[in-house]
Amino acid sequence: MALSALVALLALAGCQSADIVIGRDLDAAGGAVVSVEPLASATGARALARGGNAVDAAIATAFALAVTWPEAGNVGGGGFMLIRAPGGRALFIDYREKAPRAAEASMFLGPDGKVDKNATRLGYRCAGVPGTVAGLWLAHQLYGDLDWAELVLPAADLAEGGFEVSAELAASSARHARELALCEETRRIFLAPDGLPLRAGDWLCQPDLARSLRLIALDGRRTFYEGELARQIVAGARTQGGILTLEDFRRYEAVVRRPLTGSYRGCRVLAGPPPTSGGQVLIECLNQLDGFDLAALPAGDAAELHLLAEVLQRAFLDRALHLGDPDFVSDPLGAILDQEYGRRLGAGIDPERATPSDRLAGDLGGTLLPAEGESTTHISVVDRHGCAVANTYTLEESWGAKVVAAGTGILLNNEMADFNPQPGRSDRDGQIGTRPNVIEPEKRMLSSMCPVIVERDGELLLVAGSPGGRTIPASVLRVVTGIVDRGLSPAEAVALIRVHHGLYPDRLRIEKAAPAEVKQRLAGMGHALEEREFLGDCHVIGRDPSSGRLRAVADHRRLGAAAAVVAAGPLGSEEGW
Ligand code: DON
Repeated sequence: MALSALVALLALAGCQSADIVIGRDLDAAGGAVVSVEPLASATGARALARGGNAVDAAIATAFALAVTWPEAGNVGGGGFMLIRAPGGRALFIDYREKAPRAAEASMFLGPDGKVDKNATRLGYRCAGVPGTVAGLWLAHQLYGDLDWAELVLPAADLAEGGFEVSAELAASSARHARELALCEETRRIFLAPDGLPLRAGDWLCQPDLARSLRLIALDGRRTFYEGELARQIVAGARTQGGILTLEDFRRYEAVVRRPLTGSYRGCRVLAGPPPTSGGQVLIECLNQLDGFDLAALPAGDAAELHLLAEVLQRAFLDRALHLGDPDFVSDPLGAILDQEYGRRLGAGIDPERATPSDRLAGDLGGTLLPAEGESTTHISVVDRHGCAVANTYTLEESWGAKVVAAGTGILLNNEMADFNPQPGRSDRDGQIGTRPNVIEPEKRMLSSMCPVIVERDGELLLVAGSPGGRTIPASVLRVVTGIVDRGLSPAEAVALIRVHHGLYPDRLRIEKAAPAEVKQRLAGMGHALEEREFLGDCHVIGRDPSSGRLRAVADHRRLGAAAAVVAAGPLGSEEGW
């Protein structure tokens, strides 16, 4: 961890570092933030220590991550914020990107009628209208207690003063150096002058981003959607083949939606509604699992992993068939999330044999899923009143479209890649072409992000979320079932081996660390295994079963850091909400 930078940050914030602690598994009773990056978590925890609530802390953390975790933290992307306000009141802020008005269903097809993969990934054309500034602004309008500027300026200071590049950030910059070099401005900011990637220990300053953040601190969402930043980004798009217009920015709004609610083993599960499929997949999986005694199966055993894969596979079929932007398609969510339907679906699972996806999917087999990157990032927050925020946001792939508009320092997303790129064509490699998620002007692309909050007996039980594209609901499901079914501590639930099945490709993804005999048994059941170093990066705050206290746990799979406020003090009123 860049300790020197952390100390500098704390000094900048004018607070004593004794107010907060940083670690991987911390007591969260005084309030805590967990994210992928320590400086960002500390920035959020500082907001809590100054009397801010969970929404304030999430906003401060999100802006800080845009500086310190540029592969996924963002100003130029979008996401979802699930909020548990006092009294268990819950709401969901949808700040997903929208397709520009000039977008067309077939805009990513090449002359041969096939999807041009690079066109969906790189450059201005694959950027949706960013939602992050509008979403964080809306959250602040609804619930913010501290001043907006107070939440944005620490990030601006971090961008200006710089910070020490971590080994994780250096590795990410190395993985993507070739594509980061494609845009002049991106190369100038994120690669060394000789074009080489960032190295661990380098000092990264982002003066343009600092300036943009100061504008946002001063002018709120206006500068980004109607002012100087909108003009700069649109100018970049216009000169480099993009279709974003000032009118697209002017018309963008973040939206408040009602969270999906599930009921699982006596718990209330709050999760994201469309345009993310995260909540649908998670709750549909839990409804199927309701008919099984999951805790009776040894954790990590082939029988358990098989069951998880099978419920995911079935939920992903409904995702592909029905889900899209709710402002454009009417989905049968009531029916899909009916508990009886879930139990019937689960009853069709053979505990000994993998179900071929073609048998489930019928005429979806043979048609297509869009390619998704592996980078997004999640923030979990609780304040000392037990109010909570689960915020997952993304640029889609790591470093998004790899473009930065001159003078802004803001990386743009390539979220257009989350639409179904070829209407009517799905394939067994995982491309999907079903109607509900075909590109239309001003439509939001379907997501898999899955911020979740679970309560038991009216009390907060856990807050979680993860990156990982279509593997996200599987990682979240693992943590939720670990805590709810098995009574594990949050750290134990995070440590469980993860699997994913997304229908197509018809493969069971499994973490490498799974024991060889488990993999053999799964293969023997008919699963085609695909090993991955790790799946997801789940930052969790959850109740410890032995002490009853909340713990903030950062996933060990990536960098990850919890930051907790030490001095809880007496529980005051809920004013500020
Ligand atoms: O919204 C989505 O589901 C994807 N754009 C998320 C991409 C992602 O998680 C990549 N990350 N690890």
